[in-house]
Amino acid sequence: MDARFQNSRRFFPADILAEWGEIFAVFDEHSQDSGNVSYGVQIEERRYFVKTAGAPDATAFLDHPARCELLHNAVRVAESCDHPALPRFHRVIESAHGPMLVYDWVDGELLRVPGARRDDPASSHRRFRALPVPEVVAVLDTIFDLHVALARLGWIACDFYDGSLIYDFSTHRLHVMDLDLYHRGPFVNEMGRMFGSSRFMAPEEFVLGAAIDERTTVYTLGRCILNFLGDGTDDETRFRGNADLLALARRACAEKPDERYQTVEAFWDGWWEAHG
Ligand SMILES: Nc1ncnc2c1ncn2[C@@H]1O[C@H](COP(=O)(O)OP(=O)(O)O)[C@@H](O)[C@H]1O
Ligand SMILES: [Mg+2]
Repeated sequence: MDARFQNSRRFFPADILAEWGEIFAVFDEHSQDSGNVSYGVQIEERRYFVKTAGAPDATAFLDHPARCELLHNAVRVAESCDHPALPRFHRVIESAHGPMLVYDWVDGELLRVPGARRDDPASSHRRFRALPVPEVVAVLDTIFDLHVALARLGWIACDFYDGSLIYDFSTHRLHVMDLDLYHRGPFVNEMGRMFGSSRFMAPEEFVLGAAIDERTTVYTLGRCILNFLGDGTDDETRFRGNADLLALARRACAEKPDERYQTVEAFWDGWWEAHG
């Protein structure tokens, strides 16, 4: 099988994949604004998700070398953390368009929908928010368990939002993907407004020169509670969890990092006490 990878650097990703199996899905500039191009490919009985940085001349916010570097970072995340919520990562193959990251394909629906469809009852977003509270709590539990594991390895969440979540409504299984921007260790915000959805981002992710650390992750996890068990605000009349969970989310989402849980682990302890 490895003979198939020889000289792969000379070939385009789609040609390599079409040689191996059947491409059944493409995520390109029609659905993504990252500049990345990804594929669903079936090889014999198995389905894979293959992510690439797209063509070198494709215009996006990041240029091709920067997109490739993020994919190499995604490899570091995947190789450092083996968690059941992450689609299994297999390998990197070099192509004419840079690295191709091969993951297992996971079934389900992306929980992010375009803003205009967020109020549509048929959307995955609204159906998810209408699930029984214990089912939503189980999903939050998976997200938090993963982030405890990542935080222990030093990974700070960046660009995590409902577009990173694939939920299978029939099996109740959640997968988390697109952790390409996670950062190992605290760092300084050098962008001003960083990448991400403002529904999940901490105040310091908008401030040039601000410190980004584990408490930023805590904020994002708190926002998950408010977005999935509430209406995205901390309005108690719209919140479906108990009072302790709302208090936990409010503390996690304190404006000042000093007033939040100081570690993901401390947040996790609070989560267990609040929903147990
Ligand atoms: N392992 C996977 N299995 C199935 N679909 C996936 C998988 N990973 C990502 N996807 C789908 O592919 C889309 C693009 O992947 P993503 O990693 O978000 O790329 P981008 O860097 O372009 O944002 C996602 O929005 C999701 O719908
Ligand atoms: Mg994405």
